[in-house]
Amino acid sequence: MKGKWERLVYIDLFSGSGYASIRGIDRIVQTSPLIALNTPNPFTDFFFSEFESPKMESLKARVNDCYPNRDITYYEGDTNENVLKICEDLEHIHSKYKTLCFCFVDPFSLNLHFDTIKKLSVFNIDFLILLAIHMDYNRNLSLYLSEENEKVSHFLGNTNWREDLKKSPDKQNIVSFLATQYDKKMLNLGYLTPVDKQQIKTGLTNIPLYHLAFYSRHKLGNDFFLKVRHHGESMQLNLF
Ligand SMILES: C[S@@+](CC[C@H](N)C(=O)[O-])C[C@H]1O[C@@H](n2cnc3c(N)ncnc32)[C@H](O)[C@@H]1O
Repeated sequence: MKGKWERLVYIDLFSGSGYASIRGIDRIVQTSPLIALNTPNPFTDFFFSEFESPKMESLKARVNDCYPNRDITYYEGDTNENVLKICEDLEHIHSKYKTLCFCFVDPFSLNLHFDTIKKLSVFNIDFLILLAIHMDYNRNLSLYLSEENEKVSHFLGNTNWREDLKKSPDKQNIVSFLATQYDKKMLNLGYLTPVDKQQIKTGLTNIPLYHLAFYSRHKLGNDFFLKVRHHGESMQLNLF
């Protein structure tokens, strides 16, 4: 990857404040924006989008302290609205430089609109998406099934999802239906079926929380992702 691209852009659509405390253990850890700023092969540009103003202010202060000279753009507000400005800024970079983008998407709930991903997908961009299906849908099942609720329609970019569910072999397993539908939508945008799509469970109670899926249009992207996953697993084993 080194040398092939003039610009490597990191986009964090639900960036948070840069640090988080881990429940149950007395530790504060760096989170996605600060981790991305500290990779051995650095990204050249960073786009951070965050809804909550205090979190955004904390992130700016932390980034300014540790990385004052990096090329960073902040977007405060709803990512599903910020996406237009993000696309404008990406267009500016893409029009001048050979560019590869990596977009991390880490919401608490199903409030990521598929249309947001679709708008970004016109660029040369790989996505790592946390599909917060279990943690949101399981809690709000009856609410989302009601006809007037639009949450899942926006999440899947499909207003007919209830009809599709009725016809689906997964009709008894809505979580599996939503995860499969998402892959199909990404396929329609030219993305490959995700490799090694993980169902992540809670450490304590082993309850499924979300799917973690990497979407690339290129087999090489999937090969890199598998290498990173296996490297991550061996690092974790080395801790014990
Ligand atoms: C799960 S946290 C992710 C934090 C970070 N990525 C990490 O590694 O821990 C989700 C973040 O998204 C923010 N958020 C929620 N809805 C949002 C929206 N519609 N647009 C932008 N940010 C949003 C929340 O305030 C929260 O900071």
